[in-house]
Amino acid sequence: MKATVVYESMTGNTATAGHLIAAGLTAAGVEAVACPITQVDLQSLSESELVVVGSWTDGFFFFGQRPGRGARLAQLPVIDGKKAAVFCTYAVNAGKTLPKLSRIVTRRGGEVIGGFAIHRKRMEEEAAEFVDRLLGALDLPIDA
Ligand SMILES: Cc1cc2nc3c(=O)[nH]c(=O)nc-3n(C[C@H](O)[C@H](O)[C@H](O)COP(=O)(O)O)c2cc1C
Repeated sequence: MKATVVYESMTGNTATAGHLIAAGLTAAGVEAVACPITQVDLQSLSESELVVVGSWTDGFFFFGQRPGRGARLAQLPVIDGKKAAVFCTYAVNAGKTLPKLSRIVTRRGGEVIGGFAIHRKRMEEEAAEFVDRLLGALDLPIDA
């Protein structure tokens, strides 16, 4: 199975998380590429059965949270028929960022199977936990 991780990042945290997720998937046998929403690897995307989409949390810290630069993410190429997962990075409280991101990805045709909010200070551990849960949810054949 192949995967593409597409992220929107302003100060680099979500990019770091996206690359950790891609590395974790690849280490588990799911060949994954990470790229920014402004430069989607279309070759990888077209070959991927799984698309992981990530953004940062934009809001007023305790209310009004949403995916940062969601308008960019809404331009994701159509991913009809592909499985998808979402993640966000946050500082204090991600609020409804994940369900909002999930709606954006669903509108592009992705079948969202899960999501994870990653605290910006716990990137390594939480990216690894997300990858583990994702692999569990995918129910991969042994030689995947
Ligand atoms: C304008 C702005 C608004 C933010 N609002 C929130 C918020 O409402 N809740 C929160 O937990 N973090 C908030 N953050 C923190 C970011 O979501 C967090 O630092 C994230 O990891 C940044 O990702 P990036 O480095 O990929 O841009 C905000 C950051 C910025 C710049």
